[in-house]
Amino acid sequence: MNIKGSVALVTGANRGLGRAYVQALLDAGAKKVYAAARNPATVDLPRVQPIKLDVTNPDDVAAAAKAYTDVTIVINNAGIMRSAPVVSGRIDQAAARAEMETNFYGVLAMSSAFAPILKANGGGALVNMLSVLSWVTLPGVALYSASKAAAWSLTNALRTELRQQGTLVVGVHAGYIDTDMVSAVQAQKTQPSAVAQQVVQAIANGEEEVLADAISRQVKAGLSAEPSVYLARNAA
Ligand SMILES: NC(=O)c1ccc[n+]([C@@H]2O[C@H](COP(=O)([O-])OP(=O)(O)OC[C@H]3O[C@@H](n4cnc5c(N)ncnc54)[C@H](OP(=O)(O)O)[C@@H]3O)[C@@H](O)[C@H]2O)c1
Repeated sequence: MNIKGSVALVTGANRGLGRAYVQALLDAGAKKVYAAARNPATVDLPRVQPIKLDVTNPDDVAAAAKAYTDVTIVINNAGIMRSAPVVSGRIDQAAARAEMETNFYGVLAMSSAFAPILKANGGGALVNMLSVLSWVTLPGVALYSASKAAAWSLTNALRTELRQQGTLVVGVHAGYIDTDMVSAVQAQKTQPSAVAQQVVQAIANGEEEVLADAISRQVKAGLSAEPSVYLARNAA
């Protein structure tokens, strides 16, 4: 797909990886970028069209699909992480449901609303921001992992369904990326720009999966190991 002349919509575009996606698309020659944010006033990049979009708000999603019918690339980037244990007296049901609402149902709503638009515009591309935690998990992020595993499965289903309309569906897996989401974590992190540039290149090349760093490549390779990587102690 030619990025030059494309019209992209990025969710969660005001900071972190979403902002890097917007920049990478502009750098690659996108004609127009809708920078979607819960508060569009927080979008600080020039040459973009800030739009209001909370992916968990059906009215926002419907209004965006009604208004922005020229979109050829959708990047489902918006996501949240709320640390919570799975088994204890401290289970935070609200946190777990919020993660599913944003990381799974938000992606489903956006994909469903924009699939007909992508089709009408010749196919285009749909990118879902997943994680290495779609495949393995860690204590404390189990419910986030569950939401990203669900989003991975959804991505595979979307790929199967949308292939016939010529839409490229890209799943992106990464370990730590240097954004607010993991600012408290002391570990090696990939720069958001490096992830975004790989994804934009993958769209241009027609690639359906991006393994953005060494850990995502190792974990994917480890899925078929004996014992599989998700059975190992300290999986990720
Ligand atoms: N950072 C990592 O290590 C890492 C690794 C793998 C995958 N990811 C994934 O990468 C994506 C981007 O994360 P990030 O690292 O850039 O996190 P971040 O710095 O916390 O930014 C999250 C972005 O998502 C937006 N957002 C959250 N809920 C939303 C909603 N309901 N509707 C619209 N926008 C919403 C936030 O907007 P507000 O400013 O309004 O809060 C913000 O723009 C997420 O899907 C995340 O799960 C991150």
